[in-house]
Amino acid sequence: MNNNSWLKTGFVTELVPEGINLTEEINRMKHEKNAVIMAHYYQTADIQNIADCIGDSLALAQMATKTDASIIVLAGVYFMGETAKILSPHRKVIVPDANAGCSLADSCCSDEFSRFIAEHPNHKVVTYVNTTAAVKALSDLVVTSTNAVKIVQSIPIDQPVIFGPDRNLGNYINGLTGRNMLLWNGACHVHEKFSVEKILALKQLYPNAEVLAHPECKQPVLMISDFVGSTAALLAYSQQSTAKEFIVATEAGILHEMQRHSPQKNFIPAPPNDSTCACNDCEYMKLITLEKIYLSLKYEFPLVEVDETIRQKALIPIERMLKLSK
Ligand code: 13P
Ligand code: SF4
Repeated sequence: MNNNSWLKTGFVTELVPEGINLTEEINRMKHEKNAVIMAHYYQTADIQNIADCIGDSLALAQMATKTDASIIVLAGVYFMGETAKILSPHRKVIVPDANAGCSLADSCCSDEFSRFIAEHPNHKVVTYVNTTAAVKALSDLVVTSTNAVKIVQSIPIDQPVIFGPDRNLGNYINGLTGRNMLLWNGACHVHEKFSVEKILALKQLYPNAEVLAHPECKQPVLMISDFVGSTAALLAYSQQSTAKEFIVATEAGILHEMQRHSPQKNFIPAPPNDSTCACNDCEYMKLITLEKIYLSLKYEFPLVEVDETIRQKALIPIERMLKLSK
């Protein structure tokens, strides 16, 4: 990850003029600089409300190929900014806090992953989009949780596959496709913390509630869920289902969009095993604030940069994914 951390808390309060209307200023600069704000569903409500478009990681990648903007402000985590830069190298891409990393991407360092691939020749390498550009550059195919099953199914069944970095998503795909992909042992610290016991206890209070879970959750959570899917799939399901109450086992930011689309329904965040922590918030996603968006637009910093050799290699599996997702 790029370590341009000038936007640390102290600077942010010093540099944002007191009393300014952040939304107005952001909108003014957006028009002046021909910038677009793309936000992931896990961003806070105030950011989702000012964004030009919101989406899951697949939608954000697709938007990056279509925009005419000169600057993309990616309100999300760093690997999402890298994906946008890989697809749109001639635009400025900004992630308003370059320290917005991802525990899942961090669980797969490119040197170790490269050794793992070398130890297993003849395998196709499929990686989840939650990886660094360097890991994508080692991959034959990139997937997101929206298209993972479909893309893995497009690979001949007798072709051995390495899947990384998320062991939970990998297990889930193995179960659905009947494959035995070799899994990298990585995970997301937010999704691994949901507690089956606490979700079942919540079900006693809300017996008609449906449990919705992201496939990054552990298998026991997926087994007690009524619907498993990517962020976008969970959102769509919550609108289509006739249920009135939902227990949602993914990052809590998605509840804002679920509630906006279905104001008459009740969305309850699934409890993590440690009820003293705010574990269903991804602290990396929550590093992005309106103040930092304002500053990053004003100073056009921190810019996402990807080494050109790595970019060209990483572009190939991402473009394959986008083609197979149509
Ligand atoms: P989506 O692909 O569903 O947007 O998920 C991204 C992510 O970081 C999940 O934690
Ligand atoms: Fe990464 Fe997990 Fe945060 Fe998603 S929720 S960005 S996988 S740390």
